[in-house]
Amino acid sequence: MIKVKKRKILLLPGDGIGPEVINEVKKVIKWLNTKRSLDFQIDEDLVGGVSYDKYGTPITDEVFYKALESEVVMLGAVGGPKWDNIEFSKKPERALLKLRKELKLFANLRPAICFKQLVDASTLKPEIVSGLDIMIVRELTGGIYFGEPRGIKPIDNGERKGINTHTYTSSEIIRVAKVAFELAKKRKNKVTSCEKSNVMEAGQLWKEEVQALHDEEYKEVELNHMLADNCSMQLLRNPKQFDVIVTDNLFGDMLSDQASMLTGSLGLLPSASLGAKNKDGKMRAMYEPIHGSAPDIAGKGLANPIATILSFAMALRYSLDLDKDAGDLEKAVEDVLNDGLRTKDIAEKGKKEVSTKEMGDAIISKLK
Ligand code: IPM
Ligand code: MG
Repeated sequence: MIKVKKRKILLLPGDGIGPEVINEVKKVIKWLNTKRSLDFQIDEDLVGGVSYDKYGTPITDEVFYKALESEVVMLGAVGGPKWDNIEFSKKPERALLKLRKELKLFANLRPAICFKQLVDASTLKPEIVSGLDIMIVRELTGGIYFGEPRGIKPIDNGERKGINTHTYTSSEIIRVAKVAFELAKKRKNKVTSCEKSNVMEAGQLWKEEVQALHDEEYKEVELNHMLADNCSMQLLRNPKQFDVIVTDNLFGDMLSDQASMLTGSLGLLPSASLGAKNKDGKMRAMYEPIHGSAPDIAGKGLANPIATILSFAMALRYSLDLDKDAGDLEKAVEDVLNDGLRTKDIAEKGKKEVSTKEMGDAIISKLK
């Protein structure tokens, strides 16, 4: 068997259900290493609350530099009530935000696909969600998540003031909009750009820059602008009107959680956070399920590993140019759902309820 060069994958399982779901991906990677001509080199380290507990910081410099040097970072989840009351700058989420910002992962791809086997798992009517295939492109390194000034400060009347700042520059908007237009060209050729241009200047700039880019370079793609609150409503009313949605960091956070429920469970949705390509066409990237650490079910074998396994499929496709293996993995997930296996979050009468591990094993058995 000819082995290709070693590809470095850094696993950062994090907190809560993170380790359980990443463990299933580890099994998939090991399977690909032994059964296919792939040679992934896995490294694993601490991030989030577990790193804080051990080192007093949610991410050590060592782990951060490892992430900088990895072709692929696979993250589980960070955070939990245990760390609610620690100093803001030490919170588990700061590690995730630092990775996104410092690795310059400005484009966050969050697909919402409703598997036909799971139309009944959605809280919406089957005819509204069946066949749903939306791609949300969330800007990930700007906006109110990172804007300055920020903080909590005392003010004259003895009160305190919490401050966050929503800012976007033209280039920040244009580079993420380009990603959205390029994706749309390979899909249904339609982009909906969401902002609040009716109330925010940064939203007005967003709209103008997306429109200008469209008119200059992407005339062949259909472009619509939509206010973010309307988009939230339209996602429930008629989600199939959307193909690619491009929006800012905060609206993208909210709209993607909402879109996930159209598909049945937050436990199904993967994501890819992509940076710019360097001169040799290589790009930094981090992959993670969009669900959180779910501390309430951690350690019980109840977590759905599908979102994380599909995130790894995105890594195979977007970072490693292994489209066929990515497709096989996605197909294996569908096959297992066809067989009627379900983790608790998507449990249905008449289907077999399985644990996190059993779901992972079943998916691997379909790869064979
Ligand atoms: C997400 C999460 C994160 C975010 C949290 C954990 C910081 O909700 O990836 O959507 O707000 O971006
Ligand atoms: Mg979120």
